[in-house]
Amino acid sequence: MEYTFDQFVTQVHAAIAATGRVPEDLIEVQKPKANVPADLTLPTFKAARQAGVAPPKLASELAVALQLPADTLVGAVAVAGPYLNFSMHPAQLAARVLYDVLSYGDTYGHDDEGQGRTVIVEYSSPNVAKRMHVGHIRSTIIGQSLNNIYRALGYHTVSDNHLGDWGKQFGVILAAVMRDGKPQAEGEHALAELEALYTRYSTEMKEHGALDDEARRWSLQLEQGDPQARELWQWSVDITLQANRRNYDRLGVTFDHIYGESFYEHMMEDVIAAALAKGAAYRDEDGSVVVPEQDKLPLFLLQRKDGGTLYMTRDVATVLFRLREFNPARIIYIVGSPQELHFRQLFALVRAMGYAHDVELVHVQFGTVFDAQGQPLSTRRGNMVYLELLLDEAVQRARAVIEQKNPDLPEAEKQEVAEIVGVGAVVYNDLYQDTRRNITLDWDKMLSTDGNSATYLQYSYARCRSILRKATEDAGTDEPATTLDAAVLALLEAPAEQSLLRHLAQFPAAVRDAGARYAPFVIADWCYTTAREFGVFFEQCPVLKAETPALRTARLTLVAATAQALKNGLWLLGIRVPERM
Ligand code: ARG
Repeated sequence: MEYTFDQFVTQVHAAIAATGRVPEDLIEVQKPKANVPADLTLPTFKAARQAGVAPPKLASELAVALQLPADTLVGAVAVAGPYLNFSMHPAQLAARVLYDVLSYGDTYGHDDEGQGRTVIVEYSSPNVAKRMHVGHIRSTIIGQSLNNIYRALGYHTVSDNHLGDWGKQFGVILAAVMRDGKPQAEGEHALAELEALYTRYSTEMKEHGALDDEARRWSLQLEQGDPQARELWQWSVDITLQANRRNYDRLGVTFDHIYGESFYEHMMEDVIAAALAKGAAYRDEDGSVVVPEQDKLPLFLLQRKDGGTLYMTRDVATVLFRLREFNPARIIYIVGSPQELHFRQLFALVRAMGYAHDVELVHVQFGTVFDAQGQPLSTRRGNMVYLELLLDEAVQRARAVIEQKNPDLPEAEKQEVAEIVGVGAVVYNDLYQDTRRNITLDWDKMLSTDGNSATYLQYSYARCRSILRKATEDAGTDEPATTLDAAVLALLEAPAEQSLLRHLAQFPAAVRDAGARYAPFVIADWCYTTAREFGVFFEQCPVLKAETPALRTARLTLVAATAQALKNGLWLLGIRVPERM
């Protein structure tokens, strides 16, 4: 897709090519250093060396030789030593960027780079009969954002929640529920009770062989498809999904599939046979199937000596199924760093088996979560945070912020805005920096109205919207207060206006960059800079009290575009915006 800035790049490129002085492959236009007042620069070193002239000489000659069409986006060309600098035409910049943003609306920043290609994004993937821990929470939030980003980039995305719904532990879960009864609570509380049942049973099991036998029996029955075991297992899956769904809904998280590990159980034999046939694994004397050490990756099992299969075996089946079913260009796993080795082993094995050679297999890792005292959250330490309570606390705290900022909002709206702001704060805290970094649950920072927080961004959005509302109220008509008339928009010449416009023009590039780097923070950064630039503009350029009606309209249009672009950026992160706060 060619947005305004892309067109500018294309035009600069074409103009340089047309001089016939720089070979096509040496036209490497770049973003200039921050202190250079230009939008693009051409370093002439290589071309000058080839032509046998000094770079500054070539730069000057090029400046003279350049021919630009009448409606060009290029405003100024300047020689700075060996560099040839290009700036966008201020009036064109205003008219074209505002046109882009307001005519594309909710799809401004979307692209077609992914057309015809499928990306599988796997995220959340919690375990049955347990509450999600912070690892799953981060995976859920990061994964949904990446899913949004790839969809916006034109990929066909398939999202899958790889539920941990199979494995040895189910024998214990089933035996414990049979003995102690099903929990009565709802939502996450039900899962907490199941966790407690499980822990109690496992502890007692260590001393009472009979309990151990019982768990083993349930495990076997489940594997053999015994109806009662199956039913109980299904119940545990359902109660888990029910509890998690409430949280997913609040977070705007959706999945195309929730296959879960159990879905792959019937493929185990084939996977093991294929690994053996390809020589990627061997059967040991004790009967287990071993994948030997390779490229410094330690050996691991695909099958235990008792015939049981493993988490890894199901992951191999998952890849093969996905390749067959969806023919993806890329499979992305959003899973915490502790599983790094697991995924390196998985990817290496799949390739050794002869699969996925033209498919990118990506493990997007993320760091842990610390509490405000700087302690990592852990169940053992007792400071673990669970999703439902986390969201509830965030909303409650957001409510206090709103109460203070805007006590006059009607009650129902206060609650709605608190939900948007509270949930947004949690999501943004996960996404505003490189996912590999650790995050801290620091409420003051997360809900700050002037720092790098969702609250600040939502507040900036709401401020834009309130200016626009005020403008229509003043006019007393339904007439839109904005315009796409190029002559009017040409009035946006002030440095703060031009700077904000330039920044809005960079949004599509930020989205592409975020996709290429699996990095929602690139979009978060863009949003934060937008809000700050808007702050400067708002301080320096009166909008409702602009000197002339035309300038007022032009500025209102810039405000409308800022709101739209901010909304789009936040949407990609999975954050909603309030109309007032
Ligand atoms: N359920 C696993 C856990 O909680 C995460 C699954 C990650 N995805 C995968 N394909 N292995 O640790």
